[in-house]
Amino acid sequence: MDQGIPLFPEAASTMAGKVDALYFFLVAVAVFFAALIFISLTVFALKYRRRSETEVPPSIHGSTPLEIAWSVIPLGLVMIMFAWGAKLYFDAYNEVPPDAEEVYVVGKQWMWHIQHANGRREINELHVPVGRPIKLIMASEDVIHSFYIPAFRLKKDVVPGRYATIWFQATKPGRYHLFCAEYCGTGHSKMKGWVTVMEPAEYQAWLSGGVVGESMEAAGERLFNQLGCNTCHRADGTGRGPSLVGVFGKPVRLLSGETVIADEAYIRESILNPNAKIVAGYPSPTIMSTYQGQISERGILQIIAYLKSLSKEERSQ
Ligand code: CUA
Repeated sequence: MDQGIPLFPEAASTMAGKVDALYFFLVAVAVFFAALIFISLTVFALKYRRRSETEVPPSIHGSTPLEIAWSVIPLGLVMIMFAWGAKLYFDAYNEVPPDAEEVYVVGKQWMWHIQHANGRREINELHVPVGRPIKLIMASEDVIHSFYIPAFRLKKDVVPGRYATIWFQATKPGRYHLFCAEYCGTGHSKMKGWVTVMEPAEYQAWLSGGVVGESMEAAGERLFNQLGCNTCHRADGTGRGPSLVGVFGKPVRLLSGETVIADEAYIRESILNPNAKIVAGYPSPTIMSTYQGQISERGILQIIAYLKSLSKEERSQ
C-alpha cells in the first residue's frame, strides 16, 4: 500500500474479483460516454461556429436511424449492467454452498457478537479459515446494522426481527476491516472490528483454543430444557406440541393448509409469535405462549443450532 492510493481496495474473497469486474465495466462505460460527449461538444462548437453576423444555418430535420441508435445502444448497455449485477447478487446472497460452515452473528448497539458452532465467541473479531465457504446467519438485537467487509466486497443489512444470511470464501490469509455500514446511533463509528483469515490448520487450533464455552448446540439444548420447551415438544411426539426431532429444513404442513419449510425464520417466528403458523393437527389458537422478552436473539440462534442438530442425528440414523 506504500505506492500511494490504490485503485481498488484489497481483494480477498472469491466474490471480490467479480464485483470489481462489474464495477470496472460501469466506470469504463461512464468514462467512454463522458469522453464522447465532451469531445463531440468541443469539435461541434468549433466546426459549426457562426462565422459571420449574417450567417443563417440550414434547418435540421429529425433522423430516425439516429434516434433508434441512441435509444437501443443505451438500453442494451443498461440491460447488460442489470443482468450482470443481478447474477452477482444472487451468487453472493442466495447460492450458499451446502457445505458452508455456519457462524452466528448478532449486531447490537454497538458491537458485533460472533459465535462459532463449537461455542467459541468473539466480539468485533471474526476468525475464518482460508478457502472454505462460510455462511453467516445474522440477527440484530435492537436497530438496523449493516455487516460490511470491504476486502470481501460483502455488505448486508441486519434488520431486527428477521435473519440475514450471506456467505463468502476468503482467498488469502490476512487481517481485514469489518464495519457497521448503517448509521445505528451515537456509537455507530465505533462498531467496527477485524476479520482474520487463517490457514485451515491454524484456524482449527484457534477454534479449539482460548475459552470455549458450550457449543451452540449444547447451549441451545440447555435453553430448550430451561425454558420448558421440552415439556411440550417431546422427542417421541407424545407431548402437547409437535416433536421437533428431524423437523429443521423439512416441509411442515400447517393448519391453514399451507406448507412451509422449517428454516431459521420459521423457528424464530414460532418462538416469538406461536400463533403465526400453527402445525396441522394442533389447536388454534395455540396453547403455547410467546417467548418474546424471555429469550435473546443469541438464545434463539442457539435453540436453532440445537434443532438443526436434531435433524442431523435423524438423517445419520
Ligand atoms: Cu451498527 Cu452502525
